[in-house]
Amino acid sequence: MEIVIQPDAEAAAHFVADRIAAQLRRKPLSVLGLATGRTMEAVYARLAALHRDEGLRFCGVRAFNLDEYLGLAPDDPASYRAYMNRHIFDHVDLPLDQTHVPDGTATDPAAECRSFEERIREAGGIDLQLLGLGATGHIGFNEPLSPFESRTRPVILAPETLRQNAGPFGGDPARVPRLGLTMGVRTILEARALLMLVTGAAKADVLARVVEGPLTAMASGTAIQLHKDCCVVADEAAAAKLAERDYYRWVRKVRSEDA
Ligand code: GLP
Repeated sequence: MEIVIQPDAEAAAHFVADRIAAQLRRKPLSVLGLATGRTMEAVYARLAALHRDEGLRFCGVRAFNLDEYLGLAPDDPASYRAYMNRHIFDHVDLPLDQTHVPDGTATDPAAECRSFEERIREAGGIDLQLLGLGATGHIGFNEPLSPFESRTRPVILAPETLRQNAGPFGGDPARVPRLGLTMGVRTILEARALLMLVTGAAKADVLARVVEGPLTAMASGTAIQLHKDCCVVADEAAAAKLAERDYYRWVRKVRSEDA
């Protein structure tokens, strides 16, 4: 695992966006795994700016999103599909038929999840998966008790997640759908590279648990420790509780000096 600590949230988001841009320049036909949440808004703003100002191209990309609320239509402003259109897809040259967000209105959610896995396979697998981190330690919507071997499936959201995600629902956790569709932990681990972004003091405890704590299905984020190409980018505030943060800085310093 590589840990990158940046001075503030904006620098951390820029670092992540620049990594994604480097991936697209290296491989224009990349398959990207994408994430939602407040943390990612600055990443998408930067990617849209790179498209506008520097001609970064997305036309060959195929994109797969981690998750969606069950029961929300794609045109519901609180859906993750609407979030993705609003924050990135509407601003770059990526045809919408090359973007995949689990369909929250599927009449057969299990079949939709199987089809989602099949589409990832047909695309040749995910090259780079972007990840946020939820308050429960989740990646995607893989709440506590999610098996490391899980695949894309319907899930029950934890009360803490409903509270954390209440913003787009008028701030009322009772209005947040209680069910979601999410890529499984195994699905995420099969991506060729993982790129996690965590910012803000409120995430300091959960980040320390995920990076330095024992592997546990009670915090699916801990599974990233198993991945052989995983980069975690944090700002100082989120990194504050990492016991070994001086060591992570040392590793980066030596790596950059020897490069
Ligand atoms: C949601 C998403 C997660 C994301 C998390 C973090 O729960 N399903 O994939 O990591 O939000 O959100 P935020 O960036 O708003 O803290």
